[in-house]
Amino acid sequence: MTKPGKFITLEGVDGAGKSTHLSFVADWLRKQGREVVVTREPGGTPLGETLRELLLHRDMDADTELLLMFAARQAHLAELILPALARGAWVVSDRFTDASYAYQCGGRGIAVARIAALETWVQRGFAPDLTLLFDVPPEVAEARRSAARTADRFEREADSFFSRVRNAYLDRARAEPARILVLDARHSIADLQAEIGELLKGLG
Ligand code: TYD
Repeated sequence: MTKPGKFITLEGVDGAGKSTHLSFVADWLRKQGREVVVTREPGGTPLGETLRELLLHRDMDADTELLLMFAARQAHLAELILPALARGAWVVSDRFTDASYAYQCGGRGIAVARIAALETWVQRGFAPDLTLLFDVPPEVAEARRSAARTADRFEREADSFFSRVRNAYLDRARAEPARILVLDARHSIADLQAEIGELLKGLG
């Protein structure tokens, strides 16, 4: 029987710089001879990418936003993530459910129990094997966000929104220290990549 692959997610507030490290993680794993699938949330499937367009650009209330995040996630798991892991591929995703706890619970203020109920429904206990949380102080993230071209619905939020998102991410890392590893995203790209390489070696 094929050994199932591992599921790695990258998280952080907008402007933390996680996207820079996504291809590094994928390339590092490929050099170990693994099949790697790179994906993102919301998105990752044709339906999920359509939902992403709506989520990033169409105004909606917070509960609709949360439900659409999980609708996209259900399709993502069923059509892409779980089949890839089953055939032995490693899957690297730019965001996953920790983002719903950080943005919809921390940022928007939805009760944690609602998100936990959707997580149980859609994931049935499934979770990432490793989550890299890129953490930066709010002012650094804000400077990086404002250097970016066009802001989507989330990136236009106030600084206080991103402080709540960051704190919610850090709370999750404290609650699950074995899975969620916090990286200081103020470090140089080279230093972070050396650190990430060491963490990946530990995954086996
Ligand atoms: P992001 O991953 O930052 O993409 P880009 O780098 O292209 O801007 O954008 C996705 C946005 O979706 C981000 O602002 C966070 C938000 N998001 C949530 O609010 N909840 C979720 O569950 C997920 C997966 C993402």
